[in-house]
Amino acid sequence: MTDQSKDRVFIFDTTLRDGEQSPGATMTHSEKLEIAELLEDMGVDIIEAGFPIASEGDFKAVYEIAQRSKEAVICGLARAQIPDIDRCWEAVRHAARPRIHTFIGTSPLHRAIPNLTMDEMADRIHETVTHARNLCDNVQWSPMDATRTEFDYLCRTIEIAIKAGATTINIPDTVGYTAPRESAELIRRLIETIPGADEVIFATHCHNDLGMATANSLAAVEAGARQIECTINGLGERAGNTALEEVVMALKTRGDIMPFDTGVDTRKIMHISRRVATVSGFAVQFNKAIVGKNAFAHESGIHQDGMLKNAETFEIMRPEDVGLSGTSLPLGKHSGRAALRAKLKDLGVDVGDNQLKDIFVRFKELADRKKEVFDEDILALVTATMAGDADHLEIVSLKVVCGTGGPAEAILEMEVGGQETSADEYGDGPVDATFKAIRKVYPNKARLQLYQVNAVTEGTDAQATVSVRLEEDGNIATGQSADTDTVVASARAYVNALNRLHVRRGKTGTDRKEISYKDVS
Ligand code: KIV
Ligand code: ZN
Repeated sequence: MTDQSKDRVFIFDTTLRDGEQSPGATMTHSEKLEIAELLEDMGVDIIEAGFPIASEGDFKAVYEIAQRSKEAVICGLARAQIPDIDRCWEAVRHAARPRIHTFIGTSPLHRAIPNLTMDEMADRIHETVTHARNLCDNVQWSPMDATRTEFDYLCRTIEIAIKAGATTINIPDTVGYTAPRESAELIRRLIETIPGADEVIFATHCHNDLGMATANSLAAVEAGARQIECTINGLGERAGNTALEEVVMALKTRGDIMPFDTGVDTRKIMHISRRVATVSGFAVQFNKAIVGKNAFAHESGIHQDGMLKNAETFEIMRPEDVGLSGTSLPLGKHSGRAALRAKLKDLGVDVGDNQLKDIFVRFKELADRKKEVFDEDILALVTATMAGDADHLEIVSLKVVCGTGGPAEAILEMEVGGQETSADEYGDGPVDATFKAIRKVYPNKARLQLYQVNAVTEGTDAQATVSVRLEEDGNIATGQSADTDTVVASARAYVNALNRLHVRRGKTGTDRKEISYKDVS
């Protein structure tokens, strides 16, 4: 519900573009569609759905997200090049409300790469923004590395972009270099100095290299910015971006000192945060603001006592406001399919009959092994089931012998392209032995970049969610799986990542083009 007494701030989510750009966070096509749908459903104003020229996959995702969109503005990114802008327009044009976002690096360091003089770059901005505006009446322009660009030159380029038809001017702190007071000062001075500044929306796009992204974004809003660019869980290059959940909850909770409203339904935050964590393979740290597992957990006696008497003693937000039900899950091994469907609906997961059937089989297996099945268990099952689209490799059975006094042994049976094959390998621990056995039956040159285990629920019968990230010839794929047996979850996650690499090899030969920001000449 919008509060008329407050200024409206537009939320621009770039999880599917800047977020997906973080190494290893690649999402499948169906995962991108799902996240876009959740973003729109939660009330995000603008969704940056991808970088259409970067790959065929990026183009298709932006195209389909645009076609399915209803209310949200769908935006694609394009460098300051005519072919980029044309490709971007092709991808977004069928959206109910399309936007082209074009950018160029304006700081001395970024100007030096394409070797453009200040005047040449100014001409390029005029030419490309004019071209974009001839295609689309909603154009966003960004001077990349704005916070390290000479102020006078920054004003000059922004004025050119506004005159050429840009409707939103985004000020990126590309390397997370600025600080809150400076961020506010920059926006205030730009708005005061540039002719025509009052006819466009100023946006803030902050990276988190010094841990100040959210503070910098909020300071920019206080100084006049009216669009915040952010990602779910703060996903993004290096240390990530401003986190959507942080800015939205900060504005909601501290409306007394920051009287700004967003259109976001905050009760959808927790669900989308979990989905993004699972599909991207970037688990949320336990103590992360708003969405971390401990954000609403109180362990010390004093805190628990205070909470029981009055929740406000130690909580500045209600868990319900971010979508935590606080209720325990009454699902167990006697529950039927209807109860599971109702629970999924409750968790915001919409599945078809066939998917429900698969999830139900896994749920029953889990309920047989585990006393209590929590919401997190169910969500982990959904992700693991949905991740199983690509099935060139399938584990038939796995037995592991391990313990003190010797190497671990993995005895594995797998189907590779429909053919049964097996291996018996030894290793330094059960996971090492298992991965060696997988590599024996399916020789490949994928390099293991990340192996991460998280217990999603509590107790010794907790489900472990395992994320595996592999790299092969520049292609990166992540796989996830959840099981009460950590070794089984590890094997499935590894196979899941190999399946994704297999699909990429088969579909495109190569995937994402080596696209770089600097390639603008
Ligand atoms: O960080 C950045 O500068 C960007 C631009 C492309 C807006 O992501
Ligand atoms: Zn960025």
